[in-house]
Amino acid sequence: MRQDDSVTHRDAAPPDLASMRKQYRAEGLSETELAATPLEQFARWFKQAATEGGLFEPNAMVVSTADAQGRPSSRTVLLKHFDERGFVFYTNYDSRKGRELTGNPYVSLLFPWHPMARQVIVTGVARRTGRDETAAYFRTRPHGSQLGAWASGQSSVLADRADLDAAYAELAARYPEGEQVPVPPHWGGFRVAPQAVEFWQGRENRLHDRLRYVARPDGGWRVERLSP
Ligand SMILES: Cc1cc2nc3c(=O)[nH]c(=O)nc-3n(C[C@H](O)[C@H](O)[C@H](O)COP(=O)(O)O)c2cc1C
Repeated sequence: MRQDDSVTHRDAAPPDLASMRKQYRAEGLSETELAATPLEQFARWFKQAATEGGLFEPNAMVVSTADAQGRPSSRTVLLKHFDERGFVFYTNYDSRKGRELTGNPYVSLLFPWHPMARQVIVTGVARRTGRDETAAYFRTRPHGSQLGAWASGQSSVLADRADLDAAYAELAARYPEGEQVPVPPHWGGFRVAPQAVEFWQGRENRLHDRLRYVARPDGGWRVERLSP
């Protein structure tokens, strides 16, 4: 569609990014109120994010991986489970992230809870979940998402949208609603065992609180405060 250039330019005046800023809340995060483990602290903040946070998808997180040459890449995925063993998400093992994690398991997860002036940043090591755990989760997914996991060669280049729709239609004919869809061998979970977890609370005048749990060799955690 062609548009009149003068109109397009007037309507598309760039926002003044340099003047876009918010003052963050004053209530801070102190060492004394932190939970004993980062997973417990995460559970507290997650509950707040999910109830009073005003967030659309509090379990959406940015996963950053790096290839063998150290070149990073990031994308959003959904956190599907967490406990003391770590943070679990599901994806295609042959996708870019899947291949990068297979070669280099060091990973970063970032929860951007902007409406609460909070972020949580996890760094750790990703390992594939067991097939039983993957299958149990796959069975809870809607039928269409199960088919989608088969239809999409995630991260590969498609010639055409129609190819993807045709692949899906073929699968939908083979596995109608109500018929069990097998778990794709190339699809499954990663569990990220944390090595460090930072809880960031925005505060006034950019004097934010940053408290980071760092794993100790004995299995415990030490907490350090970082300069904002
Ligand atoms: C809100 C949101 C949630 C997403 N959740 C997932 C997910 O749980 N698993 C997944 O593989 N991709 C998910 N995606 C798609 C990824 O961002 C990404 O496009 C895809 O995984 C391919 O990434 P890659 O080519 O870097 O491996 C999500 C995207 C958005 C915006």
